[in-house]
Amino acid sequence: MDALAKLWPPFGLRVTCGPLVMRPLRDDDFAEVLTVVHAGIHGPDLMPFSFPWTDFDGAEQERQFLQYHWGERASLKPEAWALDLGVWHEGRFVGVQGVATHDFQVTRTGETGSWLGMEFHGRGIGTLMRQAICVLCFDHLGFEEVTSGAFADNQPSQGVSRKVGYRENGARRFARKGSLATMVQLVLRPEDLVRPAYDVEVEGAERFVALVQGRAT
Ligand SMILES: CC(C)(COP(=O)(O)OP(=O)(O)OC[C@H]1O[C@@H](n2cnc3c(N)ncnc32)[C@H](O)[C@@H]1OP(=O)(O)O)[C@@H](O)C(=O)NCCC(=O)NCCS
Repeated sequence: MDALAKLWPPFGLRVTCGPLVMRPLRDDDFAEVLTVVHAGIHGPDLMPFSFPWTDFDGAEQERQFLQYHWGERASLKPEAWALDLGVWHEGRFVGVQGVATHDFQVTRTGETGSWLGMEFHGRGIGTLMRQAICVLCFDHLGFEEVTSGAFADNQPSQGVSRKVGYRENGARRFARKGSLATMVQLVLRPEDLVRPAYDVEVEGAERFVALVQGRAT
């Protein structure tokens, strides 16, 4: 474990699943990550995100992206935390897979969210990284349920959820960039998880769990 991971347990967290390595982004990663962001995450006709951060351009997008990820670290506390894992496929950065929760000690639930650079869509990577984070959540972090929300016109996200075992459990009316959009709600129970074809190896989960429970290690 390196010196910074000793100080900040999320930096010691690492998930390996076949060709994927997933771990929290470090500052040294951001230049590579933003190259993938600038190359595009979705087509111009779709806005898959409830906060439309991909509408920002150039330096504004870069600063907004950095502040979001720094803010996530800075605001982590037992009452509310989010974990965004950078995803490397065969050594190449391809996207981010995250989960966010609040009041976790009581609710034991959290919502997954993800994106991949467009170049990497449609190869099963989105399914594999979602399977891997669900294994992390259920087997190592103490989740009893995982949820997802996808706009009705986001077929790839709903396709991933279905393949991983989530079931639809409702819909919400959402103001997307000022217009009404339907957000499909999905829920995954541990017994429904379609596990990945590869073993999932996890390092550093105990110290991360202690941190989000407010315990010192
Ligand atoms: C959502 C996302 C992560 C999916 O990743 P992906 O690697 O492209 O997905 P997969 O290749 O694993 O595809 C999973 C399933 O989705 C479905 N699917 C994918 N593209 C589809 C499309 N255009 N239309 C209908 N179904 C589609 C298929 O059922 C596919 O399974 P199959 O390959 O067995 O047919 C990726 O598309 C992405 O980053 N999109 C932009 C950001 C985003 O939407 N994030 C999620 C916000 S909720």
